[in-house]
Amino acid sequence: MAEPRNRYSTVSLILHWGIAALVVTQIALITASDATEGPISREFVSVHKAVGLSILILTLVRLGWRVANPAIPLPQGNPRWQRLLARATHVLFYVLLIGMPLGGWAASSAAGREISWFGLFNWPLLPLPQSRELAGQFMNMHELGTKALYVLLALHVIGALKHHFVDQDNVLHRMIPFIPRRP
Ligand code: HEM
Ligand code: HEM
Repeated sequence: MAEPRNRYSTVSLILHWGIAALVVTQIALITASDATEGPISREFVSVHKAVGLSILILTLVRLGWRVANPAIPLPQGNPRWQRLLARATHVLFYVLLIGMPLGGWAASSAAGREISWFGLFNWPLLPLPQSRELAGQFMNMHELGTKALYVLLALHVIGALKHHFVDQDNVLHRMIPFIPRRP
């Protein structure tokens, strides 16, 4: 019988850690924008938009890759509720990694603000009615998404550390292969 896969493919690893780094960059860019004023502050938001839309594209690529290369099941040793919680966290991550950029894109579109993709070209705006109120509603959703993202991130990291230090299994190894594999 074939040996079960015990780590994610290199493409999955690059996408997981690349997108995670970009999400942290997003928070850093907004923090930098909040800490500054004038054109510099607006430049940070402009880069935030370009990075956010890149996350949208990369997440769509990632989902396509995932369909072709299904995830490895979690160890059967964990109770069902924990496996369901892990699964729900992953699904909600994907919802946010798509929903947050869409919400930001929709807000900029309703506000009639151009989106420059790293100064290379103007990202097309969505065909939405021009309305500050609508833009504000999309931004409220974006902020709600931020809160949900922090909760998911906390659950996700606590879960990963629990696998490693409490269950002492190979779940962290398969996402960080240079952590030695346990027998
Ligand atoms: C913003 C940052 C992060 C995001 C958005 C994120 C998202 C995800 C998603 C969506 C999956 C499911 C992959 C799939 O099956 O399709 C996953 C798996 C995983 N992540 Fe993260 N992650 C982040 C940060 C981290 C960090 C910091 C750690 C380590 C402490 C980590 C450890 C893991 C592990 C071990 C798995 C594999 C779980 C399994 O094998 O079922 N992630 N992550
Ligand atoms: C996964 C991608 C994204 C993440 C994780 C993200 C995250 C965030 C966070 C954490 C904030 C601060 C919210 C707060 O103050 O509570 C924010 C604000 C904002 N985001 Fe995003 N964002 C993403 C994508 C986008 C995109 C694609 C756009 C637009 C095209 C966008 C436009 C904005 C704007 C205009 C603000 C308000 C900035 C200000 O304070 O002036 N975001 N985002």
